Amino acid sequence: MGKALMELGCGAGALGKCIARYCDSYLGVDCSRIALGIAKLVSPENCTYLHVNEHKELSKYFGTIDTVVSRFFWIHQNMEMARRALTFLRYFLKPQGRIYMDFFMLCQEKAVGHWKNTWITLSPQEPLAEATSATYEYTFEEITTLIEEFGFKIIHHQPHGETQRRYIVITR
Ligand SMILES: C[S@@+](CC[C@H](N)C(=O)[O-])C[C@H]1O[C@@H](n2cnc3c(N)ncnc32)[C@H](O)[C@@H]1O
Repeated sequence: MGKALMELGCGAGALGKCIARYCDSYLGVDCSRIALGIAKLVSPENCTYLHVNEHKELSKYFGTIDTVVSRFFWIHQNMEMARRALTFLRYFLKPQGRIYMDFFMLCQEKAVGHWKNTWITLSPQEPLAEATSATYEYTFEEITTLIEEFGFKIIHHQPHGETQRRYIVITR
């Protein structure tokens, strides 16, 4: 408790409605108005949902966020979109704030359950694919370069083959 959370790419509020009970406030941001509409219906009162273009409302949260969380978000961002997302998020984070990121890491030999799907992955240097479900696989060096470009440092890195992810935590 006592923390202000934000999720970029919150979708229909699957995470927000569960995690809101553990924080003071939760701000969910997404580019899908349909998803945001559903999120508002299913979430408790300390959740706020805003579209990425609601600039005036969003600006009230500048410098107020302790923790940015994301789920199934960074895996779908190529380098250009990841840069845009970090440019956006920088406005919201408190100086000591943290961003929790989920990058894709192909590791089929460790995959369990539905993670065993055959993934079609692209390089993050590729232009954004038309399919919004496209997945980009960053090398650790590419992640480090991206993070440092924005004045952040990595404070936690957990490669997790079972879920085909690199879980990364960054701060300034
Ligand atoms: C795979 S869904 C995950 C939704 C949610 N995080 C969850 O775990 O259920 C990805 C979400 O990110 C949103 N999204 C993707 N790129 C975005 C961007 N650049 N800015 C805002 N939202 C974005 C999509 O609209 C979608 O709702």
